[in-house]
Amino acid sequence: MPKHYDLEAAARYWGQERLKHRDELAVVLSLRETKEVNQAYDTWESSLVVETLGGVRGRKVVDLACGVGRITVPLARAGARVLALDNAPGMLERAESHVRRAGMAKSVQFALGPAWSIPVPDRSQDGVVCVGLLEHLPPAEQIRVLKEVDRVLKKGGSLATVLNNPHSILLQAPTDNRFRKGHQFPNGYYCALVDRKKLLGTLGRHFRVEPVGTNLFYSLLRFAFRAEGTAKDIALRRRAFKVATELDLRFRLKGLADEVLTDHTFFRARKLR
Ligand SMILES: C[S@@+](CC[C@H](N)C(=O)[O-])C[C@H]1O[C@@H](n2cnc3c(N)ncnc32)[C@H](O)[C@@H]1O
Repeated sequence: MPKHYDLEAAARYWGQERLKHRDELAVVLSLRETKEVNQAYDTWESSLVVETLGGVRGRKVVDLACGVGRITVPLARAGARVLALDNAPGMLERAESHVRRAGMAKSVQFALGPAWSIPVPDRSQDGVVCVGLLEHLPPAEQIRVLKEVDRVLKKGGSLATVLNNPHSILLQAPTDNRFRKGHQFPNGYYCALVDRKKLLGTLGRHFRVEPVGTNLFYSLLRFAFRAEGTAKDIALRRRAFKVATELDLRFRLKGLADEVLTDHTFFRARKLR
């Protein structure tokens, strides 16, 4: 196991090994979950991004660790001028081709590099989206990313981020992601439950941080529907996940359920000064 976080190994993992999988949602979300689980997660997260940034038409938004452009395309469609950055050349190529196919090439620029080095001036951006990244970085690198977000955001700008829940009983189950160990594997993969309090605390007095919503219903179903099933089971599962996502988007539950049962919380951090 490498002692230090190896950025190049991470880029190889994401931009080569991971991209071999056919299902593009699985490439950037979860390889072991079923299609309907990844689709439900994608609907929940992408629905909240634009809303959390408070409207993006004509605004400059960075999609940090953009992957295949899952969030880049809806941001551009909503009218944002997007800088899509990723550390893996393979991911950027894939994102570029999705953006082109969506007819959004004029609205998106691309940058190759680590998330703690965004090639834009201080205080120049209206929004930053950071989803699916922080849990794949060790704590010191997570903090570097948030300091960089602070550097690039204008006063009044917002960070939209999703953090996994270290208090979740379900995420701690031994049958959940066996590779979420908080160390980097030889193939470059790193995944951990994040220390949300400490992490969001690093934004300090510059930001007002508030939860936008959690994915409680999704989390319960994801855990309950572990087993393989017949075609009928799968159809039922698809319907159940659709309803769960609608409930998560409508009720925005927080509090105790968030503490012990939800996989993720969506946060908005607005820059105050
Ligand atoms: C789980 S995927 C998420 C992609 C995208 N944000 C999404 O949610 O669809 C993680 C992405 O982070 C990128 N990545 C990992 N470490 C990075 C780093 N230090 N700097 C920039 N990108 C990084 C990977 O190349 C990969 O595209």
